[in-house]
Amino acid sequence: MKVGDIKFQTIWIKPENPSVIQIIDQRKLPFKFVIEDIASVEEMFIAIKDMHLRGAPLIGAAGAFGMYLAVIEKDTKTKTSEYYQEVAQYLVSSRPTAVNLEYSVNRILSRLLETKDHDRQKRAALTEALAIVGEELENCRRIGEYGQNLIQQISQTKNGETVNILTHCNAGWLACIDYGTATSPIYFAHDKGIKLHVWVDETRPRNQGARLTAWELGQHGVPHTVIADNTGGHLMQHGMVDMVIVGSDRTTVTGDVANKIGTYLKALAAKDNNVPFYVALPSSTFDWNLTDGVNQIPVEERDASEIRFVEGIEGASVKIVDTLPKNSPALNLGFDVTPARLITGLITERGICKASRESILTLFPEKKV
Ligand code: MRU
Repeated sequence: MKVGDIKFQTIWIKPENPSVIQIIDQRKLPFKFVIEDIASVEEMFIAIKDMHLRGAPLIGAAGAFGMYLAVIEKDTKTKTSEYYQEVAQYLVSSRPTAVNLEYSVNRILSRLLETKDHDRQKRAALTEALAIVGEELENCRRIGEYGQNLIQQISQTKNGETVNILTHCNAGWLACIDYGTATSPIYFAHDKGIKLHVWVDETRPRNQGARLTAWELGQHGVPHTVIADNTGGHLMQHGMVDMVIVGSDRTTVTGDVANKIGTYLKALAAKDNNVPFYVALPSSTFDWNLTDGVNQIPVEERDASEIRFVEGIEGASVKIVDTLPKNSPALNLGFDVTPARLITGLITERGICKASRESILTLFPEKKV
């Protein structure tokens, strides 16, 4: 996607120094566009944990590059198999809900364990990390191609009137390598000339919707309106939402979806109002081992300070303000699980399926046991 006139992806190798990974520091958006250098496992761990970058597919790619940094880092540690296993565990612990992280880190780890030759390990880690980036890019592109048909169908039933789509959090290109998951169908449909408008949930506490999704859509010229998180149900009751599309951080083989906290409430409201509720995700977001999302998916608990403090801009300076009574505690759960029964369909790189084991495995027959 373009920022101004320049085309960006969200993670890349620094052109002048292949030992450094570069990312867009998402903490600074929409106020500043800042590129950050990451040169060690520790820096990558912090970048993932403290959300300099975020979003399931991007976290996965970052974890893969974290493993590459483990190979090339100039430190005194012996680069044994045990060392790589420890680094893998460490990186995976940075964000527990998005399964993409574990998936990508384990892919690099298994390549590293194939040889003890350091040069080969370095080449293998880099090749595999770049392969993950390429696959995720293509997966999101395909999600867009499949998903745009759903928007087009609604547009046809409305005789070309504006299709209103609600989304939660940021499942946009910033959360992936490019295109996004939930936003990819939106970008494809918009570029095709279909009239659409996006309701952007602000997504407290970190406001990924207000800060990131709104910024992305604005950069691409997609009409959108930011709404407070609790507005969606009302809009649905009044016929102002034609469909919901969200992303996922982990989806069970039975079709339960973990996504940013608040997604479940939107799905309940959508069900009550007969609004189609779609989840867009690449195959790296499926957890093929889990069958009960509510009870099996680990939900990240983040620091309560994210609820207490809100960041904004005043003039040219970014300010952080306290919003709670001094002694009130806060609970900050990052994700919730939307049960499969509330989901109309899953948009994947292999097509659209129902949120059920049978339908998912029809698209991914190699996962049948
Ligand atoms: O805590 P975050 O910002 O990493 O949560 C991100 C989400 O919940 C996204 O909706 C999800 O990763 C979808 S992936 C494009």
